[in-house]
Amino acid sequence: MKILVINGSPKGERSDTMHMTRAFLEGICGVAEHEVEHVDIMKQHIEFCRGCFSCKKNGGECIHNDDMAGLLQKYLDADVVIFSFPLYCYGMPAPLKAFFDRTMPLSTMAMRKVGDRYEHTGPVDFSRIRTVVISGCGFPSVTNNYEPLRREFELMIPHDLFMLTVPEAPMFNVPEAAEVTVPFLELVREAGRHYAESYSVPDELMEKLAIPMIPEEMYTAIANGEMI
Ligand SMILES: Cc1cc2nc3c(=O)[nH]c(=O)nc-3n(C[C@H](O)[C@H](O)[C@H](O)COP(=O)(O)O)c2cc1C
Repeated sequence: MKILVINGSPKGERSDTMHMTRAFLEGICGVAEHEVEHVDIMKQHIEFCRGCFSCKKNGGECIHNDDMAGLLQKYLDADVVIFSFPLYCYGMPAPLKAFFDRTMPLSTMAMRKVGDRYEHTGPVDFSRIRTVVISGCGFPSVTNNYEPLRREFELMIPHDLFMLTVPEAPMFNVPEAAEVTVPFLELVREAGRHYAESYSVPDELMEKLAIPMIPEEMYTAIANGEMI
């Protein structure tokens, strides 16, 4: 299958989150060979959506002439899209939000009610594209932290969405933390293997991945310089 990795961290390859994304991909690609393409959002020229709706009025033409048309094509060609990015202000980093705003040409102005929510209709059929979100954050808890982002993705992408949201992510870039990050990344690799086989990850494994690598209080004390 074709896997498109969209790295939305302003830190590019040095991203804390990318440690998990690389492990997840290793898990996927350990099961079978896949075509993997990486896009670093920070290296792309993506103008902000102006909200003019020209893309919906002029036969799908956006007023901007930047990298976005090519990115939309890559998006539509993929079987699995992995969004890898840090939590910023309870949401996604601004450059990645600019990307999502610019997916406007993929839907028409028409809207319909699906269950208890509204969505814009076609022309693009997203139902064959599966989405993975891998995100790391700086606080030691996902509670009262990741809920807005999780809800945003559930509404934006209501089908075939798998999300892995992980606290204490800066530890992935700390070599001294290997004792806890290496076993955690092995769990992420295992999650990738399951995803490759069934597009899902067993609850027991998700429960293990939900346990912070070190206790909240210890992480807070280290972050505050109270422990070495
Ligand atoms: C502008 C900004 C906003 C942030 N907002 C949050 C936040 O709402 N919650 C949180 O837990 N961490 C927050 N963080 C911390 C990052 O999520 C954390 O440093 C993460 O590990 C960075 O991942 P990356 O290296 O993959 O970019 C924020 C960091 C920045 C720079």
